[in-house]
Formats: sequence, structure tokens, C-alpha cells
Amino acid sequence: MSDNKNSTDAPDTGHVWDDNLRELTNQPPRWWIITFYLGAVFIIGYLVLYPSIPLVNGSTKGVLGWTQMKRLQASVEELDAIRKPFEDKLKGMSAQAVLDDRELSNYVVRSAKVLFGDRCAACHGTGGAGNPGYPILADDDWLYGGNIDTIQQTITNGRTGLMPAFKDNVSEQELDDLAKHILALSQGSEHAAGKELYNSKGCFGCHGMEAKGVEMMGGANFTDTIWRFAPGTEESIKYTITNGVNAPGNDATRIAIMPVFKEQLTETEIKKLAVYVHKLGGGQ
Ligand code: HEC
Ligand code: HEC
Repeated sequence: MSDNKNSTDAPDTGHVWDDNLRELTNQPPRWWIITFYLGAVFIIGYLVLYPSIPLVNGSTKGVLGWTQMKRLQASVEELDAIRKPFEDKLKGMSAQAVLDDRELSNYVVRSAKVLFGDRCAACHGTGGAGNPGYPILADDDWLYGGNIDTIQQTITNGRTGLMPAFKDNVSEQELDDLAKHILALSQGSEHAAGKELYNSKGCFGCHGMEAKGVEMMGGANFTDTIWRFAPGTEESIKYTITNGVNAPGNDATRIAIMPVFKEQLTETEIKKLAVYVHKLGGGQ
């Protein structure tokens, strides 16, 4: 580009085609040569300083002694140093106090996310979105209650909702009326005969006079469209009434067991999870 040489002066290899087509031996441009030698110097430097040349077992070590493990160790130490003040503070605080501390609760949510993924998501879904047969945690519909202390209790001691199987206590007609009533409740109305049975058969004891659920008993709320046992059709409602929930001695019963975590997790981990679940959106 810079030197517009007359091609007749340029050195050539002596090869000529078609009378005048010569193969020239021009030097590459200067900048190219410099970059080429700099590259070579860099490579030699790198080979000396870092592990690089593959050997039969492993590779050359490099004079700096750099290893991936050391690098990892350094980042873990760095992270621990960032976490420590938060972790120390957490130990002496109640879950409610953590929730009230914005900075701390933000930290806890980030740290509990992984824990939730490992320990809870298999049943409750990623981010508490729920799985068939397991309650959604990311809504404001609670079986046992959504205040922070109740959530902490649930994780610590587990929950086993109990509903007897009514198969020997209700006739075919009664079962039909009860199911119709419960379905009607979820649509904002009622079914007269079923409503009477709801009271006379003692359903209100766990599901409440208003059918919104009694939190102490873990009874489901019937006045919303969230079903614990999908799909929430008349058939599936009848199945629950017939076979109960965790009903002893009935193989066909619905199973609903929230495991006990007090031996598997530390108190701090449970505290973090309680804050995390509360902040999923439905905490009260
Ligand atoms: C083996 C499955 C399983 C695992 C694992 C599990 N849960 Fe549960 N969880 C359940 C079931 C089932 C229920 C409902 C219990 C009932 O209906 O009586 C429940 C209920 C709950 C509730 C009460 C919901 C409400 O509406 O009141 C909370 C809170 C909860 N789980 C949090 C957690 C957390 C946090 C973890 C992880 C440490 C976890 N669960 C792990 C199955 C599980
Ligand atoms: C001793 C307490 C108790 C009594 C009495 C009781 N239930 Fe339940 N019921 C529960 C519990 C606990 C659950 C499950 C909640 C959970 O774990 O998700 C449940 C669940 C249900 C469900 C499933 C709801 C859903 O969202 O899928 C239906 C339907 C139901 N009960 C109907 C009835 C009817 C009808 C009666 C009266 C004939 C009755 N229950 C009496 C405790 C009770």
C-alpha cells in the first residue's frame, strides 16, 4: 500500500507463467512482522509462567505455581469474607427481624434460593410454583398460615394434614351433594343439600364455617379456585371425600406429608428458608 513499487524491480522466485506472470517474493509489511515476533515472545513467556505443555500425566507446572484449585480457593475465601458479617448477624435474630431488615433479607433470599432448589423444589416446584399433589408456596393461599413464624414452624416440624375417609359415613347421594356444594363454593355459590351435609358431617371442623379452611387443622379453603388435589372436578372432590387425606388404614387415601426438617437443616438454614418462602409473594 505505502510503497507503490514498480513490479519489474521487485525480487521474484524465477517462476513465470503465461509469459509475464511472475511470482514475487516481497517482504510482508513491517507491522505484520513486529506483531508476529511479539506473539512469539508472548507464547514463550506464557509457556514459562503458566501450566501449559501437556505431558503424559498432567502438564508442565509453570514458574508462577498457578493452578485452577488455587484460583477457586481464592474466590471461595473472598466470598466467605463477604458472607461472614451477614451470617454472624443472622444467628442472633428472629426470622421476623430478618424480614424487617431490608439488606439482610435481600442477602438471605439470594442465599436461600439454592437451598430451596436443593431441598424443597422437588416437591414444591422451582420458586415454589407448585407441582401436582404439592401446595404452591408462591401464592397467598395457605393451609397452615403464611405468617413468618408459622412458615418457620412448618419447615421445622413438618405437617401431616389429616382428613378421615368418609366412605363408610356418606351415602352415594350424600357424596354427590357434598361434591356439588364444594364445587359451587369455588364458583361463589352453594348447593343447599350439600351445605346442610357440610355442617352435619362435621366438615366445618377443619374447613371452617365459611369454608375458608381452619389453619390449625390444615383444612383446604374451598372458596377459591386453587385445588390441592388436581384437577378439582366433581370426580376428584368425591375421591378426596371418599378416601380422606393421610387417612390411617386406607391405601387409597390422598397423601400429603410435609417432611420434618429440624434434623436435616440448621436453625439458620430454616430461618433463611422461612424468609425466602414468605417473600415468594404470599407472606402475611
Ligand atoms: C417430600 C415432599 C416435600 C418436600 C421435600 C418439602 N415439602 Fe413442603 N409440603 C409438602 C406437602 C405435601 C405439604 C402439604 C402438607 C399438608 O397438606 O398437610 C407441604 C407444605 C408446606 C408448607 C405449608 C404450606 C401452607 O399452605 O401452609 C410450607 C411453608 C412448606 N411446605 C415449605 C417447604 C420448604 C421450605 C421445604 C424445603 C426445606 C419443603 N417444604 C420441602 C411436601 C414437601
Ligand atoms: C379432621 C379434619 C378434616 C375434616 C373433618 C374434613 N376435612 Fe377435608 N381436608 C382436610 C385436610 C387436612 C385436607 C388436605 C389439605 C391439604 O393437606 O392440602 C382436606 C382436603 C379436602 C378436600 C380437597 C381440597 C382440594 O383443594 O383439593 C376436599 C374436597 C375435602 N377436604 C372435603 C371435605 C368434606 C366434604 C368434609 C366433610 C365430609 C371434610 N373434608 C372433612 C381435613 C379435614
